[in-house]
Amino acid sequence: MTEITIQTPDDWHLHFRDGDMLQETVPATARCFNRAIVMPNLVPPVTNATMVNEYRDRILAARPEGSAFEPLMVLYLTNDTSKQDIIDAKAAGTIAAKLYPAGATTNSDAAVKALDALFPIFEEMEKQGMLLLIHGEVTDNHIDIFDREKEFIDRNLSRIVAAFPTLKIVFEHITTKDAVEFVLAAGDNVAATITPQHLLLNRNDLLVGGVRPHNYCLPVLKRNIHQQALREVVATGNKKFFLGTDSAPHEKDKKESACGCAGCYSAWSALELYTQVFDELDALDKLEGFASHHGADFYGLPRNEGSVTLVKEDWTIPESIELPNGHDIVPFFGGQTCSWKIKS
Ligand code: DOR
Ligand code: ZN
Repeated sequence: MTEITIQTPDDWHLHFRDGDMLQETVPATARCFNRAIVMPNLVPPVTNATMVNEYRDRILAARPEGSAFEPLMVLYLTNDTSKQDIIDAKAAGTIAAKLYPAGATTNSDAAVKALDALFPIFEEMEKQGMLLLIHGEVTDNHIDIFDREKEFIDRNLSRIVAAFPTLKIVFEHITTKDAVEFVLAAGDNVAATITPQHLLLNRNDLLVGGVRPHNYCLPVLKRNIHQQALREVVATGNKKFFLGTDSAPHEKDKKESACGCAGCYSAWSALELYTQVFDELDALDKLEGFASHHGADFYGLPRNEGSVTLVKEDWTIPESIELPNGHDIVPFFGGQTCSWKIKS
């Protein structure tokens, strides 16, 4: 196949950031996605309905002329989140709340330190029909970074899932065979997003031949058996797995640093790279479900109108992009060839 048309897709997990950066990130996503789940890990984080409304307005103001792109807003959970915060956020159109274990990733220091204390909040979310989005990694120093997702499943996720049988839970950016198996075995209220980097790469791509800071993200890339499990499951077309890029911009200097930030800025090539993966897997017929149907269906939202066409044609992802503040950012797969392109 050299051309494929899919119903307009959505991105069920990304980071737009704030301020000037929105001029870069919002158009990059709106070029092909109609909606996106916008992560709330700003500084300070988006912890109440007022902040949600203000952040949504700033994103809407950064849309390209004529764009109907719709940001789907998320509340950042902390140990100070109250039931009233959930009720107010829901009334303000907030679709989901995000659970970051404190310290697990970028701007998560203010997040959840005592998980069990949040169970009454999950109960309110279940009642309100708000989704729970989870960064599933433990943060204990003594747990090896490559084992943190599995440990989170065993210690925490299994308990949350057992306690809230009708709460819709998205296990975000899964990276392991263990996560695939957990989601497959769970009820229909549990689903997962998968990033392009975790389908395309494994930890060798981070560490062999030198440290590659632009492939560093969290959860960190795992060994290839885990990458294979992710690739296999998307190729089956299972409706529990859908597109979430985790596009997460950090300026070049902050990535190429003695203590580099985690995150791959994939917005300019994510849909094309996912298409490349499905093509490699001989599963292009499963791309539309993954990119355009499963997420909307799980969230209980209508599928999009319109379509996007991709053609099999090599192009080179730019090595660098200049941000509105004059600083550079290196996009994910910068300087590398992608074999699928959006037809303009
Ligand atoms: O690599 C990541 N970057 N993982 C996350 O969980 C957060 C994100 C960010 O905000 O930069
Ligand atoms: Zn993320």
